[in-house]
Amino acid sequence: MTVGRRAFLAAVGAFGLAGCAPTAEPPRRAAGPRQPGVVTPAPPRIELAAFDVTARDREGLAAILRALSEPAPGVTLTVAVGASLFDGRFGIERPRLLTPMPPFRSDVLDPEWCHGDLLVQAGAATAEPIERALGAKIPGLVPRWRQAGFHPDGPVRNLFGFREGAGNPDASDTALMDRLVWVQPGDDEPAWCAGGTYQVVRLIRLATPTWNSKPVPDQERVFGRAKESGAPLGRQREQEIPDYAGDPRGEVIALDAHIRRANPRTPESEAHRILRRGYSSGDGEGRAGHLFICFQRDVERGFATIQKRLAGESLERYILPFGGGYYFVLPGGTGGGDHIGKTMLG
Ligand code: HEM
Repeated sequence: MTVGRRAFLAAVGAFGLAGCAPTAEPPRRAAGPRQPGVVTPAPPRIELAAFDVTARDREGLAAILRALSEPAPGVTLTVAVGASLFDGRFGIERPRLLTPMPPFRSDVLDPEWCHGDLLVQAGAATAEPIERALGAKIPGLVPRWRQAGFHPDGPVRNLFGFREGAGNPDASDTALMDRLVWVQPGDDEPAWCAGGTYQVVRLIRLATPTWNSKPVPDQERVFGRAKESGAPLGRQREQEIPDYAGDPRGEVIALDAHIRRANPRTPESEAHRILRRGYSSGDGEGRAGHLFICFQRDVERGFATIQKRLAGESLERYILPFGGGYYFVLPGGTGGGDHIGKTMLG
């Protein structure tokens, strides 16, 4: 559902924040027709900035993309576009599956925190270069919403205290990423989309006070993994595979546990796998959040299928998705001075 600002604030009033410090790791850059910030290692800090485009013609849009393609010291920028950019203004063919993000069951979407013509993801080791890159004014771009994310110290744990990433496909496996993440030449998409990928963003509030009041075994039942080691329940190590076939009634890992719903590990669910790059977040007013980001070659087969399967999961009562959107990460520049998204502009 979509609600007004006041009803939204009333709905989220009970959610609270636990603070965490970031770690320092150098950001990486990658050249070539695919943009960095998708399969490259996730930096400790990230910020997403959504904009609306006021430029009215292709030349104006090209100027924006050229400005965003300028090297920004110490920061990795990844540029994506939203469905609203394809309303006819620029006469560009829309990626086939790019629609406004629909509200899913139990979402309370605040229009001020959704969508946008353009999304810039800025990743870095510290906040300063991100601020510098996103603070620069680009004519023709009007800010819509911004959300920062960080990885707490040590192994990546979200603000519910659970380790993140075990079920993710290996981002360094290029054949796997070609299969799951990058749009390929010959896909049922406009030709310009090859080398791009669908990006889904979900801004989610966490009910940390309620969560923290639950005993650890209850929390572990919600995710289906052990809090300390990250191992699937019934297993010893994080990378072991859960045995769902041997546990049809959910006695070891509950049928409504997050990991079992997200990836039931059947032959069919292999095609639904997505690459997640989640971060913790806060809203500056003491409330904890989760900045869910994922990439996939087909947003219906990937995120939307998984999100529908998560309906009714036991995690639902501790989280409140309130914003985000569907975006398409543009193909990168070709290196010879071409800007990001050149293929889109023809
Ligand atoms: C506040 C929201 C969320 C939290 C706190 C959360 C947390 C977690 C945790 C702790 C794991 C287990 C470790 C791992 O594999 O990374 C996990 C797995 C996973 N989550 Fe989430 N998640 C959230 C939302 C979502 C959403 C919205 C989706 C997709 C629609 C999703 C999809 C997945 C997938 C696909 C896995 C891997 C399951 C597997 O392969 O076994 N999660 N999540």
